[in-house]
Amino acid sequence: MASVSLRLADHAYDVLIGPGVRTSLAGVVRRLGAERAVVVSARPEEWVPDTGVETLLVPARDGERDKTLGTVGELCAAFVRFGLSRSDVVVSCGGGTTTDVVGLAAALYHRGVRVVHLPTSLLAQVDAAVGGKTAVNLPQGKNLVGAYWQPSAVLCDTDYLTTLPPRELLNGYGEIARCHFIGAPDLRGLPLADQIAASVRLKARVVEADERDSGLRHILNYGHTLGHALEKATDYALRHGEAVAVGTVFAGRLAGALGRIGEARVAEHLDVVRSYGLPTAVPAETATETLIELMRHDKKAFGSLAFALDGPDGAELVTDVPRDVVAAVLEGMPRAPLADLVATATATATVLAGAVPS
Ligand code: GLY
Repeated sequence: MASVSLRLADHAYDVLIGPGVRTSLAGVVRRLGAERAVVVSARPEEWVPDTGVETLLVPARDGERDKTLGTVGELCAAFVRFGLSRSDVVVSCGGGTTTDVVGLAAALYHRGVRVVHLPTSLLAQVDAAVGGKTAVNLPQGKNLVGAYWQPSAVLCDTDYLTTLPPRELLNGYGEIARCHFIGAPDLRGLPLADQIAASVRLKARVVEADERDSGLRHILNYGHTLGHALEKATDYALRHGEAVAVGTVFAGRLAGALGRIGEARVAEHLDVVRSYGLPTAVPAETATETLIELMRHDKKAFGSLAFALDGPDGAELVTDVPRDVVAAVLEGMPRAPLADLVATATATATVLAGAVPS
C-alpha cells in the first residue's frame, strides 16, 4: 500500500493507494469521531466497505446526467432525513462524476460536512477525487457550479479497477500519460498501483502549491484544451482520457512550433502517449476551424487560445497563442477516421484490462 499526504495551510489528509484499502474506511471514520455516515455509492453494496458507525446507504449512478444541482438537493434531503449532523461524515463511492457531486453536497450541507472519497475508476483515482475540486453541470455547460472542498481522506482501492469496463481503464491512462510532461518521473512499465501513487503524489504537490487554481494548478490541464474540444466535437465518442492523449501529442507539437522545446522532446510526447496504448491522431472528420472555435470557448481559455505547454522551465500556462500557429499545428497532426480510433481504443483497452491484477 502507498500513502500520499496532501498538506494545505488549514487542512491535511492522506490518500491511500493499493488493493483492499477500502477496508480502512472504518478506521478513518473512527478517527474523525463521526457517529453517523451516509455512503453514496454507484457500486453494488458488496463493494461498499463497513463504516463502523450507523450508516445510510444511498444508491447513485455514475455519469454526467446525474451531476446536477437536483442531485445535490436530493442528497442533502437524504442527509437531513437520516439526521446527519455537521460532525458526521459523507462517503462517496464511484467514478469521478460521483465523487464530484457528492463532494459538492458535502461542501454545502450545514455549510460543510466532512467527506471521504472512495474513487472506483482509474480517472477518479489519479485525478478527480484528489485535490478538492467539486462541481456539477448546468444545461449551459459542464462543471459550472462547484466549490473547493477538500476530503478528509481518499481511499484508492485498486481492487475496484478490476470491475471497470476496459475503455474506462484507458480513460484513466490518458491522465497518467500527461503526468510525464508536468513533473512526474517516467511511469512507463511500472505496476499500475505505482503509476497511480506517482500521479497522486504529483497532483498533491501541485495542489499544495496552488489549491485555488491561480497559477501552477493549470498545468494539470496539460493536453486538456484540445482534449475538451475533441470530446465535444466527437459527441464524446472519444473518452476524456483518450482525447487528452491526443491533446498531449498536440501540446508537444505546439510547444515545438513556438520554439519552447526541441524536436526530441516533441517526439517524446508521441512516444509516451503511444506507449500507453492511447490514441495519437485527430479524428479525420473534425475540421480544424471547429476545434479552434471550441478551444477559444474553453472555460480555461482566459479569452484567448491558452494551453498548458512544456518549455525550458517545465510546463506552464501560455496564453494568447496565435491562431495561425494553432491552425498550422492542428493541420499537421496525424488524422484517422473516428471509427478507427474508437475501434483501436476498444481493442487496446481490452488487452490493458486483461493485464490488471485481480
Ligand atoms: N483536474 C484538474 C484539477 O484538479 O485541477
